[in-house]
Amino acid sequence: MKFNLIFLFGLILLLISNIVDAKCTVKKIKNVKNVRDLNQENDESNIEINYHIADAEEAANLLLSNRDYYENLNQNDFNFRLQILNATLEELEELVKREVRDFTEKEKTIIDNCFLIKNIKRICKERGYTLPPLNDIVFAKTTSREEYGSNAYTHGTEIYLGETLFEMEDEYLDIYVNGIISHEIFHCLTRKYPNFRRDMYSIIGFTIVEKDFEFPKETADRIISNPDVEHHNSYATFEINGEKKDCTLIFTTVRPFEKEGDSFFDTDLQMTGVVPINDLYTIYDANDVSNFWDVLESNTLYAIDPEETLADNFMYTIIMGLDGMDYSTPRIIESIDAYLKSYKL
Ligand SMILES: *[C@@H]1O[C@H](CO)[C@@H](O)[C@H](O)[C@H]1NC(C)=O
Repeated sequence: MKFNLIFLFGLILLLISNIVDAKCTVKKIKNVKNVRDLNQENDESNIEINYHIADAEEAANLLLSNRDYYENLNQNDFNFRLQILNATLEELEELVKREVRDFTEKEKTIIDNCFLIKNIKRICKERGYTLPPLNDIVFAKTTSREEYGSNAYTHGTEIYLGETLFEMEDEYLDIYVNGIISHEIFHCLTRKYPNFRRDMYSIIGFTIVEKDFEFPKETADRIISNPDVEHHNSYATFEINGEKKDCTLIFTTVRPFEKEGDSFFDTDLQMTGVVPINDLYTIYDANDVSNFWDVLESNTLYAIDPEETLADNFMYTIIMGLDGMDYSTPRIIESIDAYLKSYKL
């Protein structure tokens, strides 16, 4: 799930980017032009990530078939999405059915021209990468109101693109959609290939345990569910009140939903929760964790979960490459690059 403000901020930096910010890690894009040139040289035989484009009806059926996801949402999830108190699963399902859309022909062309998908063979050949295969990607379109207007999100190997995604100025639209799709493809890869996920998470110091953490109800009820974060089973070491603690991350809000207009994208309301894995009742605010940005210092501000942080870094590695941007933490891009070079099917 994209958090519009943060992501848009990241994107503006990514695209225009001479703004300097202390935490701003992405400073300068060098090769938008190269990305476009690569696409122009391409030919059909390069397509190796197989996909199909769903219409609105198929999108609704696919979405609602993910019972695990919808049935595990909590009251807060329903309320924020429906923007009313005491919202129900049934109301959310009705919303999903109303908000799915058909792609326009122009939007289909943008997807068909996605750099990563169209050039996957060439990228792999030129850079010596091996990527785990994805032969069953589905693209679907929705207004995304069911996920509070996020730009894109995934279930399984289905990529749901939000209507707002296509409202970007034409000048940057292809690059923007390319970036988002590459980010979403990472979620499909980690979901489908647990070893790939484990190795990627280890690059930023997160360890994966076999079983998901069993949060007590008090904690579980505060989680804002993100379809891209299917498992809460990773931890890293954080320093809290001078003590080192192994913690997992959750996305939450400082208070529950109260009234229409409350948004979990609101930076005053949203919170990255840092939860010690040996005390799952306690949720620290990431802002109070002294070394949070040392652990999550990772070229992106999108640091609500290692899954999102890494998806951005994967996107940079694939689209921008090792020297396509001035990365604040080039080590991560180098590590992803090295990993993709050594990946064995
Ligand atoms: C929501 O449910 C609570 C508890 O059942 C009830 O007290 C409250 O009036 C309800 N609020 C709305 C807006 O339906």
